[in-house]
Amino acid sequence: MARKKPLREIHQLKERIKIESEVFDRKTLLDLSKLMKKDIIATVDYPISTGKEANVFRATTTDGTYVAIKIYKVETAKFFRRDLYLDGDPRFDRIKHTEKEIVKAFARKEFKNLQICEKKKIHAPQVYYLIDNMIVMEFLGEGELPYPTMNMVGPLHGEKDLESILKDIKGMYDAGLVHTDMSEYNIMMGKIPYLIDFGQGVVKGHPHAEQFLERDVRNIVKYFGKHGIKRDYDKVIDWIRGKK
Ligand SMILES: Nc1ncnc2c1ncn2[C@@H]1O[C@H](COP(=O)(O)OP(=O)(O)O)[C@@H](O)[C@H]1O
Ligand SMILES: [Mg+2]
Repeated sequence: MARKKPLREIHQLKERIKIESEVFDRKTLLDLSKLMKKDIIATVDYPISTGKEANVFRATTTDGTYVAIKIYKVETAKFFRRDLYLDGDPRFDRIKHTEKEIVKAFARKEFKNLQICEKKKIHAPQVYYLIDNMIVMEFLGEGELPYPTMNMVGPLHGEKDLESILKDIKGMYDAGLVHTDMSEYNIMMGKIPYLIDFGQGVVKGHPHAEQFLERDVRNIVKYFGKHGIKRDYDKVIDWIRGKK
């Protein structure tokens, strides 16, 4: 007869099953198996992050490279601010109204925004594939683990990190793009800061693009200010807009 498992072990096992069943629901498993069938990935390694709107996994490709897979969740389409971020972006004028279409549009938006970043040499993950509601992109990390986000570790190289982030925001703006969700939570800290989470990024033609830019820059200037790295917001925003 098998030895009884100690209670603590059973508890840990239950917790683990709970986490995995929350993350690996039927729909997610189907999505991931699609990537395997297409031979894009060989294994799914572990969930990096589980959010309201998307889950991010680390996976390994058939040639052994680590990648990050972001899967936008169809069942939480109600959280997506379609009204604010899709409507008004001329690239997404004609999308349908079903939840599935909205979620796919956000994935497509993130993919296209990341392509623009790549072209303009912004520090952001390189994108490889867009498949329905999924994005396969460069894994930002060291060894087995993803880089920490800035909210966890703070600025690592002081002034230099702020400089790099503001240059990237300006580079995006010069390319006609505004991130709209710029904060310490969407910056990963490698040797340099990398910007992530571009699903809500809008083009300059969007009616709120300028307000979004101001909010992005304010967030960053304020965050670094709290860490003793001060910048004058007005000067920064003028510089980004090319006024000085
Ligand atoms: N390319 C990547 N490589 C490694 N980890 C990533 C990558 N992209 C995102 N992550 C991790 O997943 C988390 C959630 O990703 P994000 O795009 O911000 O989605 P959400 O909409 O859930 O905020 C990030 O905070 C980061 O820890
Ligand atoms: Mg995020």
